Amino acid sequence: MARIGFLGTGEIASAMIQTIAGAGHDIVVSFRNERVSAELQARYPGLRRAANQTVVDESDIVVLCLLADTARKELSNLAFGEGKTVISVMAGVPIAELERLCAPVTEICVAIPLPPMPLGGTPLAVFPDNARLNEVFGPHVSIHACASEVVLSAHFAATGVLLPLLDQMEVAANWLSAFTGDRAEAANYLAGLIGAYCKLLTQGTGTDLAQLRAGLGTEGGLNQALSRALADNGTLAALEAGLDSLRERLRLPSKEQ
Ligand SMILES: NC(=O)c1ccc[n+]([C@@H]2O[C@H](COP(=O)([O-])OP(=O)(O)OC[C@H]3O[C@@H](n4cnc5c(N)ncnc54)[C@H](OP(=O)(O)O)[C@@H]3O)[C@@H](O)[C@H]2O)c1
Repeated sequence: MARIGFLGTGEIASAMIQTIAGAGHDIVVSFRNERVSAELQARYPGLRRAANQTVVDESDIVVLCLLADTARKELSNLAFGEGKTVISVMAGVPIAELERLCAPVTEICVAIPLPPMPLGGTPLAVFPDNARLNEVFGPHVSIHACASEVVLSAHFAATGVLLPLLDQMEVAANWLSAFTGDRAEAANYLAGLIGAYCKLLTQGTGTDLAQLRAGLGTEGGLNQALSRALADNGTLAALEAGLDSLRERLRLPSKEQ
């Protein structure tokens, strides 16, 4: 059992707490957001709400779930003791800056949780790998330990593919529902279809992406025809260019380097 504190109780803190709340940890959260923290307290007996300094004082692991600008203001008002672990989920706050803001803490990692985390098995990219994070979240997620902070930033960029992929799903669902008259059923069908194939990659079946694509890419088949149509009109190249356009914002090296 760990003593875990969350600074900032918004969307992502709520998802992380729901993920681990049944595992017997001692959890304390910031009063803010009052509505979210009150709901969590009502739902999980034993979960406590407190002022930020109390959250820090009463935790061995402090999870930073603030917006970056709030963190820059708020963390400098807080005193961190020795021996704590800080897990930041904030995009755009480098580890060197976190070391200054949370001094004297030296055990600091940055992770990328996802809102569907409570469903179990979602990927959790992290740098550097951290034993306490593994102990608390490892049973509930699939941890992707990154080799460097740059690699972690590239994983942040990769989360940006979600909406473009859902955009394509929406086009397909609209197209299908023109025949069925039921958009929700069409979206559900496509999600099940794509989800089933994704499970072949994530559930240790030994199938890799190349094998999956080869299996679907039968010469003259429906999948090959649609895949070629997207490649030919530049959709796939646009996705790669879009990912490259995120490099500067995430301080990733330019493509030429
Ligand atoms: N949401 C995601 O999918 C996601 C995924 C990965 C990482 N992240 C990162 O997680 C961080 C939080 O994102 P979020 O989506 O959870 O945002 P959010 O829902 O807006 O949560 C931010 C929380 O901080 C609270 N807060 C503001 N000032 C505070 C203070 N002085 N002391 C304590 N709490 C304070 C807010 O309370 P009030 O509402 O009362 O202002 C709110 O509960 C961001 O840095 C984001 O980059 C988010």
